[in-house]
Amino acid sequence: MILQTLATTAIFLQGAASQGAYGGDFMRFGCSQLVVERADPLVTPGMAPSPHMHQIVGGNSFNLTMNPSNLDPAEQSTCTSCTFSEDFSNYWTASIYFKSPENGTFKRVPQMANGRLDGGKLEQDGGLTVYYMRPFSGSNKKVTSFKPGFRMLTGDPSLRKKGSWAGVCHRCMGNGEGGAPCDSRDTSEFPAKICPNGIRATIIFPSCWDGKNLDSPDHKSHVAFASGSVLAGDKCPSSHPVRIPQVMYEVMYDTSQFNNPEYFKNGKQPFVYSFGDGTGHGQHGDYLFGWQGDALQRGMDALGTNKCASESCPALISQPGKDAIACTKKQQVMEDIGDGCKRN
Ligand SMILES: *[C@@H]1O[C@H](CO)[C@@H](O)[C@H](O)[C@H]1NC(C)=O
Ligand SMILES: *[C@@H]1O[C@H](CO)[C@@H](O)[C@H](O)[C@H]1NC(C)=O
Repeated sequence: MILQTLATTAIFLQGAASQGAYGGDFMRFGCSQLVVERADPLVTPGMAPSPHMHQIVGGNSFNLTMNPSNLDPAEQSTCTSCTFSEDFSNYWTASIYFKSPENGTFKRVPQMANGRLDGGKLEQDGGLTVYYMRPFSGSNKKVTSFKPGFRMLTGDPSLRKKGSWAGVCHRCMGNGEGGAPCDSRDTSEFPAKICPNGIRATIIFPSCWDGKNLDSPDHKSHVAFASGSVLAGDKCPSSHPVRIPQVMYEVMYDTSQFNNPEYFKNGKQPFVYSFGDGTGHGQHGDYLFGWQGDALQRGMDALGTNKCASESCPALISQPGKDAIACTKKQQVMEDIGDGCKRN
């Protein structure tokens, strides 16, 4: 697992380098699992349980309802499961389940631990890697941080065939790696073959904002993708002129216990997202901004200097990995999450 975490690092650096950019254009950090539960304060606030299972990281003010008018995650959180101690944002994605072709039962596919937080000891449970990126091309590298209360969703949970945006994808790890995130080796759908080193899900958010709305009814239309490549440059459409940091998640799934060739015959595969998507095209991610004060802007402004590049960002305050790992939250929606153990 350590190897895979490191492999992920190498792959992105290599991909970025081939586009003429280096770690100086992004900061990247690990977050460990805060809670796995059916809660979704963005799409179905207050609903318990929400329609599908999520794996959530970040500030522990995460709740069923997170109304920006009376909740400031940076004020109300007492810890964060992410690396930078000024980041109380929440980052969440749908869980993946193995659906037994033999008897139809479901089992949650474990996430790999994130070696960045504990020097490769991998003691924590799951989590994901977050990137904040500035333009990889163009002359203006400046980005404008999100404002308090900002939230957004990327991907489309209703998609069951390939969409037009190539920014949510899966990589079958261990079949020859290399290239940038969501490049030609990655697929919008679940890989229809055994992945010797697991599956990496990549989820890329829009890089342009309308400059006015902290959210929108579909949680998407206040932001927009710049045209061109997945890793955006400095040109935003006039409808959404503000170049915001481009957020990206990487989630590693340990599929090793499901490597039965019988499950992958005739183009089939046994995985299904918690929202009932057995194709993988509907993969999506949710983001709720919660950085304290001007911390995110400070980090982004320091990119490209020795104050911030890739994993190392002394412009920001880091906490020891063990403190990030210790930040967890009790399930509010008590139920079996499908991995053989009830957590409460
Ligand atoms: C979550 O919301 C409930 C109900 O509004 C509130 O009582 C509780 O304190 C909140 N928890 C956190 C961690 O903010
Ligand atoms: C269902 O099948 C899976 C293998 O696909 C097996 O691990 C599991 O124990 C079975 N469950 C039941 C209830 O038979």
